[in-house]
Amino acid sequence: MTPGATDRAAAWFGECFGAEPEVVWHAPGRVNLIGEHTDYNEGFVLPFALAEGIRVATSRRGDLVLELRSRQVPDEPATAALRALAPGSVTGWTAYPAGVAWALAEAGLPVGGASIAVDADLEPGAGLSSSAALECATALALTELHGLSVPRPQLAAIARRAENEFAGIPTGVMDQSASLLCRAGHALLLDCRSGEASDVPLDLPAAGLVLLVIDTRVRHALADGRYATRRRACEQAARALGVRSLRDVTDDALALDAIADPVLRRRARHVITENGRVLATVALLRAGDIAGCGPLLSASHRSLRYDFEVSWPQADTAVDAAVAAGALGARMTGGGFGGSIIALARARTSLDVRAGVCDAFARRGWPQPGFLEALPSASARRLR
Ligand code: GLA
Repeated sequence: MTPGATDRAAAWFGECFGAEPEVVWHAPGRVNLIGEHTDYNEGFVLPFALAEGIRVATSRRGDLVLELRSRQVPDEPATAALRALAPGSVTGWTAYPAGVAWALAEAGLPVGGASIAVDADLEPGAGLSSSAALECATALALTELHGLSVPRPQLAAIARRAENEFAGIPTGVMDQSASLLCRAGHALLLDCRSGEASDVPLDLPAAGLVLLVIDTRVRHALADGRYATRRRACEQAARALGVRSLRDVTDDALALDAIADPVLRRRARHVITENGRVLATVALLRAGDIAGCGPLLSASHRSLRYDFEVSWPQADTAVDAAVAAGALGARMTGGGFGGSIIALARARTSLDVRAGVCDAFARRGWPQPGFLEALPSASARRLR
């Protein structure tokens, strides 16, 4: 979180609504260390919360209306009557907070009106889950203001429902879980079938390592249909294998022969092998060997690039350049088709890695990438 973030969010609320907010909540974005496109296949994911995220400064209102303002898009304010909220009734960035109010009501937890001022230090479309952070901060602020106490795993499910049914994007539950459940200095191993979550130590500074998040500047939109197409392919593959979900398959070599279609076979192979890579990564982290995870990250990228086909040219170039410049491993993170990659590097080679990626981009005439040193941080919390 950038210094002064709490005051800035409160001041933005003051500018919009002429008063002090009753509460300010922060919810972080996330990096997924490994376990991509496994959550909606009831598999394993291993995200961690970033220090960066979304702040939501909020006060109750006497009417049943949501007033929404964003410091990043001041020319897109919105007013929505709670009773009129329905999937598709609100579009753009405001669909996420409005969707949360709708999903809370659907879950039998109706909230009253609220004025909501949003501030962010995460860019939308960078693959770091700014939308989930916005949902989670809104969910915590609204429930607290209206005297509701909802366990966080349930709140993650409600925020996901806002995204799936209200905003119409068929994501899994990884991003909301990361924003609500992660612990500082740890990644979160989430079993997306049972919902079981456990902390896995990830103390990068103590190991002399950095995890660079490299924004390729290509913007993705999960709403553009390609994410949904991948999801359907996985369902088809599971049907062809006669299992409830690809989670049920552990031996890719044995299973894949049963899938006739070569594309579906590759999609399934990614999910099955990726679940194995998550568990292998967890074993290394629990043994204190963060550096040893590098090859697993790179293997995950190859699988996403060639089998799942959700990578994009800037990501492939950044991954290759990072590894050539000394990174221990690198991969795209998030849903794909744009956004960021991560590169694990020894702290002393971090500048070489940055330079290597910048050079590779410059040679191709692409806009320079953005860099962030990711620090596994705490989950959503009240700032004021
Ligand atoms: C997006 C979705 C997640 C997950 C990832 C891919 O971030 O929101 O639920 O499916 O893509 O791992």
